[in-house]
Parts: sequence; structure tokens; C-alpha cells
Amino acid sequence: MSELKNDLFLRALERKPVERTPVWIMRQAGRYLPEYRETRARAGNFLDLCQNPELACEVTLQPIDRYHLDAAILFSDILTIPDAMGLGLYFTEGEGPKFENPVRTAADVKRLGVPDPEQDLGYVMNAVRLIRQELHGRVPLIGFSGSPWTLATYMVEGGGTKVFAHAKGMMFDRPDLMHELLDVIARAVIAYLNAQVEAGAQALMVFDTWGGMLSDRAYREFSLQYMQRVVEGVIREHEGRKVPVILFTKGGGLWLRDMAATGCDALGLDWTMNIGEARRQVGDKVALQGNMDPCVLYASPERIRQEVATILEEYGHGSGHVFNLGHGIHPGIDPEHTAALVQAVRELSPAYHT
Ligand code: CP3
Repeated sequence: MSELKNDLFLRALERKPVERTPVWIMRQAGRYLPEYRETRARAGNFLDLCQNPELACEVTLQPIDRYHLDAAILFSDILTIPDAMGLGLYFTEGEGPKFENPVRTAADVKRLGVPDPEQDLGYVMNAVRLIRQELHGRVPLIGFSGSPWTLATYMVEGGGTKVFAHAKGMMFDRPDLMHELLDVIARAVIAYLNAQVEAGAQALMVFDTWGGMLSDRAYREFSLQYMQRVVEGVIREHEGRKVPVILFTKGGGLWLRDMAATGCDALGLDWTMNIGEARRQVGDKVALQGNMDPCVLYASPERIRQEVATILEEYGHGSGHVFNLGHGIHPGIDPEHTAALVQAVRELSPAYHT
């Protein structure tokens, strides 16, 4: 494997000195890019794109080529694990992900096993290996998974939801069953992330998109506890270098200290929190990644630049900041506006690292 030419992202996650603040964008390969839409059309649909390592590699590299971002993220989805568990993932246009066989009963939970990453999710590992090869050490590659709780919500609901009737229903009525489900998912997540590291992923991110929908007590018991297990179970050093782990709970501002105490290396922040305040709370325990409101990208390039300046200033001097949005980029964004964000971070951040 070739040496990394740009390791700003890994250094910032380790809170080591950097010349400028690294930047990448959640959902950086996606529908807002015309080249992505072109490749997706060639693949047929989103799932076929995920399952084709050559095309997944191609779309992973598109935002790197266009914007010279400081990290690449594997093009895949968090729902690959439940699909490999036999739930039958499919996407309907405009309605998001769905499962043919949701998990509702004790018998449904008992049927679930931990997928073998190379056997059952080989297309993901092949994509990781190919992307690493094609990156030629330009920037590090991020591997990822959903958090056990977030995956459980999709598996129990059978798709997306605003209310979480079935998932929270199971959590309150049959906490034992929900724990049994979370236990098998956590083991699957650990095996999946470790296989990604073995295949070449150089940092890991856990997406807890729905942890913020829980009460304080329920978050600790049903989400945080299992992310802690993931942090403890994953490979933390590979190819002679630390493999940093980033935990991201959307709406998780209340629990930053607790998340930092899991032993992870960094926290992803959504846009609701002041990043300077977050830094005061976590001290020098973890790095922070975030946290511009994705909707700022609907505004003018001048306004985007101002907002970047404000977030850099809120974080303040020193390393430990990876610039990102507070959640995924929206499909309707003008790619030139994303370029304005990246340019602003490149131009304005060196002043904070002198
Ligand atoms: O960040 C990246 O560029 C890496 C790729 C990535 C995707 N999904 C690609 C994708 C990642 C990290 C995800 C994670 C994911 N998938 C999450 C957690 C995200 C978070 O930020 O909290 C969730 C909840 C999912 C499940 C999922 N997949 C949803 C809700 C959707 C949207 C459906 C829709 O119609 O918009 C997807 C599809 C999806 N995953 C797309 C992409 C680029 C859009 C697919 C397309 O239409 O081309």
C-alpha cells in the first residue's frame, strides 16, 4: 500500500498539529453531483450501484476529484447488514429504504445471525479494496456502519419512520427482546467494521441517526451502550497506524461527555450545537467533526463563506477539528456552492493552526 500523501484528516482526529483544518462532506458522493447521477443511471439503481465495486469506487472518487476533499468515504449504505441478515432491502422512488421481512416477534429475532463479511458482504469489501487501490494514497478512506440502535429501528419498522411505533413499542414492551436484537446487530457491526479495516479502511464512522429520538435513559441503555461495545470491539491500529473511530449521534448534543467516555477518538456533531461549547465539554478527550447546517448550502457563496468563518472561529485555535456538515448534503444543492465551502475552509483555516 502506498504512503498517504495527505493525512490531515487522520492527524486532526488524533488532535495532532495540522497546517489547515481538513474537510469532507457527509453524503459527498450523491445526487447533487451530475457525475453521480450519470453513474447511477448506468448502474440501474442505487442498490445495484452499491453492489458493483467498480461503480461504487467510481462514485467514491468523484467528489475527491472534483473538490480535493481530505477524506474519501466508502460508497455504500448502512442497511447492507440487515439486507445480509435476510431482511430483503429494497428502495422505492421517493419513499426511501424498505424491508420485505421486518423483525417484529421473538421468533424473528431468533432467526437472525451475524453475517460473514467476506461471504455475505463481499461486494462491500471488494469496493473497499478497489477504492484503496485507486486512491493511490491521495487521502484516507473512511469505512462506516449504522449504530446498532439505528439499524434496529429500520429492521423493526421495516423502513423509515417519524414515530418509531414498532421499534419503541418493542423497546418499552419487550426490552429483553430489543436487547437480544441489539446484541446480534452489535456483533454484526463489529465483524463488518473489522473486515472493512482489514480490506483497507483507515478510519471508521458509526452513524447513529436516530439515537437523538430517545429519552436520556433510553439513549444510554439502547444506543450508547451498544456503540461503546462497538468501540471496544473494533481494530484500533492497522498498517502501523491508528484507526480512529468517530461516533455521530444526530441530536446527541446532550450526551457529548458520555459519548467521549466510550473511548472513541472523535464525535460527529450535528448543526444544533455550538462547536465551541462542545469543545469546552469534551476538552482534550476527543476531536470534533462538523457542524455546518446543510441548508447553509442553499444560500449564496458569500453567505456560505461567512458561515464557515463563524464555525472555524467558534472551534478556535488548534487541532482536533474536521470540518463537515452537521448531516448529509441535500440532493438539490448547487455543486458550485459545495466548492465555495471547501475553498473557504482551505483559505480561512490556516490562521487557526499557526
Ligand atoms: O457519506 C457518504 O457519501 C457515504 C455513503 C452513504 C450513503 N448512505 C449513501 C446513500 C452513507 C454513509 C449512508 C448512510 C445512511 N443510509 C444513513 C445514515 C446517514 C446519516 O447521515 O445519519 C441512513 C439513515 C441510511 C439509509 C438510507 N439510504 C436512506 C434514508 C436513504 C435515502 C433515501 C432517499 O430516497 O433519499 C438512503 C439512500 C442513499 N444512501 C443515497 C445515498 C447516496 C441516495 C441514493 C440515491 O437515490 O442515489
